[in-house]
Amino acid sequence: MSSGSAINLLRERARRAADLVARHDFIRIYTHHDADGISAGAIIAKALLKAGKAFHITFLKGLNEPFEYEQGELLLFADMGSGYADLISQVDTDVVILDHHIPNGEIRPKRNLAHVNPHLVGMDGTFELSASGVCYFFANELGRNRELASVALIGALGDKQRMVGGNEEILRNGLEAGVVEERKGVSLPSGKLRDVLVQSLEPFLDFYGKEEELEEFLEKARLDGDKEFDELSDEEIRRLADAIVLRLLKMNAYTGIFSQIVGKRLILKNLLIKNAVTAVDVVNSCGRIGAMSTALAMLLGDVEAMNRAIRINNEYVIQTLEELKKWRNEVKEGFCIRYLVMENGLSASPIATIFSRYVFTDKPLIVVNIKNEYAKVSARTNEALAERVDLAEVMRLAAEKVGGRGGGHRVAAGANITPDKVEEFLKEVDRLCCAMLA
Ligand code: C5P
Ligand code: C5P
Repeated sequence: MSSGSAINLLRERARRAADLVARHDFIRIYTHHDADGISAGAIIAKALLKAGKAFHITFLKGLNEPFEYEQGELLLFADMGSGYADLISQVDTDVVILDHHIPNGEIRPKRNLAHVNPHLVGMDGTFELSASGVCYFFANELGRNRELASVALIGALGDKQRMVGGNEEILRNGLEAGVVEERKGVSLPSGKLRDVLVQSLEPFLDFYGKEEELEEFLEKARLDGDKEFDELSDEEIRRLADAIVLRLLKMNAYTGIFSQIVGKRLILKNLLIKNAVTAVDVVNSCGRIGAMSTALAMLLGDVEAMNRAIRINNEYVIQTLEELKKWRNEVKEGFCIRYLVMENGLSASPIATIFSRYVFTDKPLIVVNIKNEYAKVSARTNEALAERVDLAEVMRLAAEKVGGRGGGHRVAAGANITPDKVEEFLKEVDRLCCAMLA
């Protein structure tokens, strides 16, 4: 299906969601705690405020956490819901789902349901539209809200999506509305060049604790590490881009990443943090440490919240770099996977994302974090391997085998299991990956 007709079908679904919202005075929103979910929440909040609706937002790690509602109110799930058909079918009130996860089975609603998901209209929810993008289309059926394109792009970038399909349309809207600008350059966060190179997690350049390598890198590229990244000349940017590509090649990073990093940078003109990479990092960090409402307030324009969010990001980045250093040598190799089992790690998700894209790129990477009586699994692979391996399916099947739950996307999926089943689970994951890769 062409992306144009898929977008029209998506808009039709978004229209039905907007119609359902119009019939309610109060909307109870549950959204995900990551950059995409928080951006989704900010878009819905802005659109509902403008439409004069009362609402309440709660952030969840997923639908394996309990949620509440009162009969008669509208329950809206963002960045979750599609993969939980059984649970949603039990809800006894009107429901709107604005999600991009792969739907699992038919939802049999007790009341009215509007389900908006790119996968339902022939669009790939892993790369072409994230939840905040779905919310953007919904917001633009509720009213005229094109200025929210900048927020929608934060979610897409947070989920490592590409500027194709629905995202391309949002980018175009944002450029036309004058809230987004594309500049030539490299996608890196703002700051002093030396700090940027050490602290960037996306791209991860592996300079933390490697001062000598960093100085050599700067010297070879003839760059002044004390200069602000945002103030580099075109010529300096070109030298920086070349040096980064070389570094990533040496690191054995997944080459599909290069085009996402080098060439263009996005400026979000109507937001407090204008460098899109920095904005994504800051929202993401807030989500990771549980300060979702700080990020939400920042996206709604609160300057104090932005200052708090930037401090949170600075601390979180260092913590993550420390974690990467700590666990790097603990990554083990199976037949068709690499895996890492952490006891009381900070969080499985960023470790899995960064390692799988920049360090351990040859096989799917499974990271398990055991905390108390829970084991949280994050599985990641690159787009090339994901053509053969479907990690969402691997996580779902392997988790079900050991009495847990899993799902997500082909390239990025997760599961929740119990610590006593980790070994059995990993064996099953390895077996399933081998079967898919064969
Ligand atoms: O729940 P949700 O779909 O938003 O989460 C997807 C997660 O997977 C995000 O944390 C995103 O950063 C990560 N991801 C990844 N590599 C990809 C795509 C997504 O690590 N290629
Ligand atoms: O938690 P993590 O970032 O690793 O999750 C990756 C993807 O897997 C997300 O899209 C998340 O919503 C999904 N997931 C899931 N079921 C789980 C755990 C994660 O669908 N039990």
